[in-house]
Amino acid sequence: MDKLLIDGQQPLSGSVRISGAKNSVLPMLCASVMVSDGQVELENVPHLQDVTTTTRLLTQMGISVTMDEFMDISLDPSTIHNLYAPYELVKTMRSSILVLGPLLAKYGEAKVSLPGGCAIGMRPVDMHLDALQRMGASVSVENGYITAKVKKLKGAEIIFPRKSVTGTENIIMAATLAKGTTTIKNAASEPEISDLCLFLNKMGAKVSGFGSDEVTIHGVNSLKGTRHKPLPDRIEAGTFMVAAAITRGDIEINNIVPEHSRAVIDKLIQSGAEIKILKDSVRVKMKKRPKAINIETNAYPFFPTDMQAQMTALNCIADGDSSVKENIFENRFMHAQELVRMGAKIRVHDNIAEISGSKELLGAPVMATDLRASASLILAGLAAKGTTEIGRVYHIDRGYDCIEEKLQLIGARISRKPM
Ligand code: EPZ
Repeated sequence: MDKLLIDGQQPLSGSVRISGAKNSVLPMLCASVMVSDGQVELENVPHLQDVTTTTRLLTQMGISVTMDEFMDISLDPSTIHNLYAPYELVKTMRSSILVLGPLLAKYGEAKVSLPGGCAIGMRPVDMHLDALQRMGASVSVENGYITAKVKKLKGAEIIFPRKSVTGTENIIMAATLAKGTTTIKNAASEPEISDLCLFLNKMGAKVSGFGSDEVTIHGVNSLKGTRHKPLPDRIEAGTFMVAAAITRGDIEINNIVPEHSRAVIDKLIQSGAEIKILKDSVRVKMKKRPKAINIETNAYPFFPTDMQAQMTALNCIADGDSSVKENIFENRFMHAQELVRMGAKIRVHDNIAEISGSKELLGAPVMATDLRASASLILAGLAAKGTTEIGRVYHIDRGYDCIEEKLQLIGARISRKPM
């Protein structure tokens, strides 16, 4: 296991290019199993552990996966020979559940390990399974596996009790090859879902209404291969925006869709950052100590839960008191106790963190617990006086493409060492 070493208090400046969106690429890789004719080609795929895990999952099913030096991935599902997603792979990456809908839609059966929880919460998939049953599948859960079978999925009206990103994605994918029409009410509307739907329609699907809370899918007989370039990663982009603010730096963040980061940009402006928005980039400058800002996470287009830990770190060195309310996951403040080790003043009760901004944090050995908590600790280390050592950085490698190299290029004193 590696660790990251950071010598802080170095204002970051320069420009950084954002990679493709993890949460766009993962469902698209899974959707490739539904192709009857041709292959799927995804351009500019981020170099992430979760992408590697998903390609391993598909390869062990018999799907041929090739990747070139430009990180373009080609997938040919014609050689598929099993419909099984084993625990060994699923336990390392919950989003493996996204093969369930596609396998059922194309092959009428699937055996997928229950994802299980993770550091941020129980992460149930009950809404996925209930919806698939409404579409005619018989679903049983035993010995830690979901076994689902159906002759042919049929269109249905699905009303999600709460918004679910992968729940919405799984049912949209399942519905593309179902008999009849499916409507999803209270659908999630994250940009990555719209990106998936554009990709599915290029494959011959008939999906409409995406980007709103009601999505309609008219089933078709088959899907064909296509080529697609996934969206830029709005969470990686937001993380670098906070890096500029927390180090009082000046960073140009390129290859983004500014509109997708609206909620984060608005909060950073409130904290005192100067932000210049261009067509596919933003420039974030922070000249003085940030002002404390209250945060409340919610489904898109509101403030994203995946940026909560990063903004919590910013509030730890901000001028004033703030509260951060986490409305999506039940245990997403694991970074708080590690930030306290660096001198942060945080009190967590229920789903609220109350923070009193400190003039400065002090570098310390800390432990990453989940993907976005790791990002929070890196940001705190960049701002802290002295050296911060972050253990278990495999968490960060799941969702950030070459993060230390990108940070080094804008002046960060960060290096990776074996534990
Ligand atoms: C997706 O997770 C993202 N992952 C997460 O990003 C993101 O934090 C999350 O959406 C929320 O935006 C991917 O897209 C691969 P949910 P997902 O279903 O779909 C409850 C990252 O850092 N729920 O939208 O698993 C659930 O417990 C990751 O990149 C049920 O109760 O999240 C949660 O409280 C972390 N039953 C809420 O809904 C279900 O069947 C929203 O979860 C499904 C979800």
